[in-house]
Amino acid sequence: MIGSLQSAGLATTIETITPSESVKTLETFGHLLGAIAGSSHGRVDPVVSLGGGIVCDIAGFVAASYRRGVPVIQCPSTLLAMVDASVGGKTGVNLTLDGGGLMKNLVGAFHQPRLVCADIALLESLSDRHRRSGLSECIKHAFICKSVGHDGLGDWMGEHLESIKAFDSATIEQLVMRNVALKATVVARDEHESPDAIEGGRMLLNFGHTFGHAIETLPGLSPDADGANAPLHHGEAVALGMVAACRCAESLGMCAPTTGDSLVAMLDSVGLPSCVAGLPTTDEIVERMGHDKKAIGSSIRLVLATGVGQCTIVDDASGDAMGVGIDSIRA
Ligand SMILES: NC(=O)c1ccc[n+]([C@@H]2O[C@H](COP(=O)([O-])OP(=O)(O)OC[C@H]3O[C@@H](n4cnc5c(N)ncnc54)[C@H](O)[C@@H]3O)[C@@H](O)[C@H]2O)c1
Ligand SMILES: [Zn+2]
Repeated sequence: MIGSLQSAGLATTIETITPSESVKTLETFGHLLGAIAGSSHGRVDPVVSLGGGIVCDIAGFVAASYRRGVPVIQCPSTLLAMVDASVGGKTGVNLTLDGGGLMKNLVGAFHQPRLVCADIALLESLSDRHRRSGLSECIKHAFICKSVGHDGLGDWMGEHLESIKAFDSATIEQLVMRNVALKATVVARDEHESPDAIEGGRMLLNFGHTFGHAIETLPGLSPDADGANAPLHHGEAVALGMVAACRCAESLGMCAPTTGDSLVAMLDSVGLPSCVAGLPTTDEIVERMGHDKKAIGSSIRLVLATGVGQCTIVDDASGDAMGVGIDSIRA
């Protein structure tokens, strides 16, 4: 990419980061702003991001903030970033709390990319674990598809499961296009995630995320009880969060008691976890969920399933129901 930019006569300043949630912080953001300010970057020059969701989020936030906003071009290089993070304009970083904990995406801005350029060939080098992590956001989209007018996504994914698992490039290209189309529909209707958007709006895309964010940055959790694989990846935390959200909804009588089983079967089929060892107490997790930016006043706003492919927003789920969700993902 750098070669093509340079051969087109464009000057480039390159900054690289080694992505992890613990470097997706204000410190890294400040470092990148310093680097851009020290370069010949002008008001109309773009920030070009090449990487996974972490790079998309930080680079987008740098572009949103530098001189109150310069263009950003997103070149996602993971499946997760192609189907989700590079699209829709959410940018940001995690916040380090006084006690040392990391709260996911607590600081950020909406800043739409001028262009998203996804080259499926980049995914050839992606690890199986990161491929699965991307599939988790696709399953999330399948689980909200009927609520946002993309009824066919879940069925299409079911019909093409084997070629998705085999990572057949033509199928993956379709998968990316179909997921981007769903996300773009939702974002176009409710770009800034209005708290009172009709029928849930953009908030529906957070299915699994309030439970998931509360456990994602806990350092000791791993998808297979092997400490060497800790911490969880974003898609793994979302997979667990979706199971908790389904079981919570089942306990409130909002959906058929088999809804969570259907989700678990989907996750199993692609090798994503539906339970995890070593979770802290339910109270601790609920408290962390309260820090999540989706919390409204003193209540915790959740996206809960009303069936396979359908979700809704709930502000008054009881602590007991949230506890049922959390306990359901304990290994
Ligand atoms: N802004 C949004 O709307 C949005 C949506 C979903 C997720 N996110 C964020 O995205 C992040 C997760 O993104 P991710 O799963 O892409 O993780 P990531 O950015 O950490 O990338 C995963 C790993 O893959 C490596 N990698 C990247 N491209 C590669 C390639 N082509 N070949 C081989 N390795 C490659 C990276 O170096 C990294 O180690 C989370 O921080 C999450 O909060 C944001
Ligand atoms: Zn996500």
